[in-house]
Amino acid sequence: MKTIKINWPNKTSSNCHPGVDWLKAAYDADIDIPTGCLGGSCGACEIEVNGEVVRACIATIPDSKELTVKFFSDPYW
Ligand code: FES
Repeated sequence: MKTIKINWPNKTSSNCHPGVDWLKAAYDADIDIPTGCLGGSCGACEIEVNGEVVRACIATIPDSKELTVKFFSDPYW
């Protein structure tokens, strides 16, 4: 199965398969993504993946070669 390299905001990286939940991938890499509703509506879990904002609780790892994650800070939170 294909492996994707994920670069986390704390300068560590981990490998993951496409289709895995973002929260699981983060947990496995010891990264703490803040969460709220876990249902895709509050935005607490938003992260930036290769420049695109993703709600981690409802998204899975896309099929890509390498992904760089940044924590997205919403000024309204
Ligand atoms: S935890 Fe609320 S949108 Fe993800």
